[in-house]
Amino acid sequence: MSEKDFIPSSYITLKEEGIVGYTSPSNIALVKYWGKRENQIPANPSISFTLAACMTKTSVEYKKKIRKDDEFSFDLFFDDQPKEEFKPKIKTFLKRIEKYLPFLKEYHLVIKTSNTFPHSSGIASSASGMSALALCFMEMERTFSAPITDDFFNNKVSFISRLGSGSACRSIEGPLVQWGETSSVEGSSNLFGVKYPYKVHDIFNNFHDTILLVDKGEKQVSSTVGHELMHGHPFASQRFEQAHENLDKLRTILAEGNLNDFIGIVESEALTLHAMMMTSHPYFILMKPNTLSIINEIWKFRQTSNTHVCFTLDAGANVHVLYPENEKDIVFPFIKEKLISFCQNGQYICDRIGLGAKKL
Ligand code: DP6
Repeated sequence: MSEKDFIPSSYITLKEEGIVGYTSPSNIALVKYWGKRENQIPANPSISFTLAACMTKTSVEYKKKIRKDDEFSFDLFFDDQPKEEFKPKIKTFLKRIEKYLPFLKEYHLVIKTSNTFPHSSGIASSASGMSALALCFMEMERTFSAPITDDFFNNKVSFISRLGSGSACRSIEGPLVQWGETSSVEGSSNLFGVKYPYKVHDIFNNFHDTILLVDKGEKQVSSTVGHELMHGHPFASQRFEQAHENLDKLRTILAEGNLNDFIGIVESEALTLHAMMMTSHPYFILMKPNTLSIINEIWKFRQTSNTHVCFTLDAGANVHVLYPENEKDIVFPFIKEKLISFCQNGQYICDRIGLGAKKL
């Protein structure tokens, strides 16, 4: 598929008014997207677990403008309060996607959105937020168009989400979504995420992700700036190559449910992401002392308990603690007893692998 396949040729009718709504989850990358080219094309392929509890709920009420003009017209509410400071980001998104959803300027839109996770938790809301909005816009398009297949709908939602935030394109479906062209995944694309097409062992059913909120402050480095740092990075090409290799290795690991090898890739990916930030110019350390303490506790516990608990990180200090359902009765008490004390105000979120967005 090419970008042109997402430009609609015509609509049957543009309804006068209506309302659409979706919930869309966040996701946690196992192989990380870090580095991009123009138009949100990833520098390397990535794969993520779709989450279930951390999500955004968005509705869009639309009404045809009385007099057509060349402006985007929308109101934005976050947690039922008008949110002027989010508007520029949404406007940029609307400008980027207008070519693919040309009805947008015909309407006045009232966008209402809220997250299930605390706003200032340091949990990235762009993946769930941008995908929820993209789903609403695509639902509008579906209402105006001749019937389209669910596959086309999902691909285009993911395509539109990607233009809002790269990782958002991996939030539409679940439990595992892969994004970025790579030889080991048939049908993989730089334009949108695809539901992982190969066998995934039952051990990954209901996999847990307990998110430890180590630092809830503003991100020290925005992901946009972070991705930029991979341009001219001395280790960029080796890193991009490594992501392809890790995806290739994951194919057997996921099929066989080999948790030891899974851990080897997931933890190395997290540390490599941070290593890239430590070795760029300018350089950053996004882990906090408590992040390291948590990692060390996990390693110690894993050795002595014979469990398969492991960690991954986003571009920040919070830690995602991953473990299989059949070990939760041993691992969760350990988390409560040994790890929660490293969290800011003792805060954490119990999440697990999920199946993607839902229409309201
Ligand atoms: C470290 O998707 O937030 O979470 O495309 O600029 O919006 P933009 O970046 P974003 O980057 C996410 C980076 C990451 C790894 C990942 O989710 O793959």
